[in-house]
Amino acid sequence: MSSTVQNIGSEMSLEEWENVYWKKDFTPFHKTDGPHTLLIEFYDFIFGLKQRHRIFVPLCGKTKSMLWLASKGHDVVGLEYSPIAVKSFFDDNGLLFECSDHTNSKLKIFKAVGLNITIFQGDIFDANAQVLGTFDVIWDRGSFTSIYPPKRPRYLELMRSILEKSGSYMLNSFHFEAIHKGPPYHVETDILHKMADGMFDSKVLLSKKSPDWIVSGSELHSVLIKLTISK
Ligand SMILES: C[S@@+](CC[C@H](N)C(=O)[O-])C[C@H]1O[C@@H](n2cnc3c(N)ncnc32)[C@H](O)[C@@H]1O
Repeated sequence: MSSTVQNIGSEMSLEEWENVYWKKDFTPFHKTDGPHTLLIEFYDFIFGLKQRHRIFVPLCGKTKSMLWLASKGHDVVGLEYSPIAVKSFFDDNGLLFECSDHTNSKLKIFKAVGLNITIFQGDIFDANAQVLGTFDVIWDRGSFTSIYPPKRPRYLELMRSILEKSGSYMLNSFHFEAIHKGPPYHVETDILHKMADGMFDSKVLLSKKSPDWIVSGSELHSVLIKLTISK
């Protein structure tokens, strides 16, 4: 992949995420018709033969991937700042939920009734391993790319702290050529490898153009990376 100097602009605040996208019901990143295609394509590779995994979906929005993973028997935990997104997830899918305040953090907990899906509502940077527990798999689609680049090392440290030693952190990120102020913020795969160095071993599983998604006049490359904790 070529190197591109990017103008990342300023950080999109949590209120802006809410006002620009969720309050306006303008969510071009949301896939309305089912789980993410890469999750289906790589399902056997990611989950293998073990029947029941504990899976974390950071910055989950209202992705239907959570519903699909729970329907396969897994325990799914999402985290999302927008209360609108969290409530829409349950309403859109006809699910009842119970809501409570987390006692040791600023987060709220939304738990589906009759299904193994829990969504923590709040800022990912208010979460930690004590609050979330640990996971066999992290499914990060468009989440790392939504984190303002100066905060990425902290985000990766959090992911490492909640990943089981033998777990897999599956990261679907984006690379694009245009000068574009994020989000999505540009992800340079080489820089990601460097950032992950010492924390994770990383392997690019797939890199392909996503012609259906144009950002600032440039096609995106969708990249799927598997990160595992360095021995
Ligand atoms: C590009 S969307 C991706 C949503 C989801 N992963 C999907 O595939 O549909 C990014 C989401 O991150 C949320 N978000 C951004 N910053 C956050 C933060 N610091 N903590 C929690 N959620 C955040 C936004 O509200 C938005 O729903």
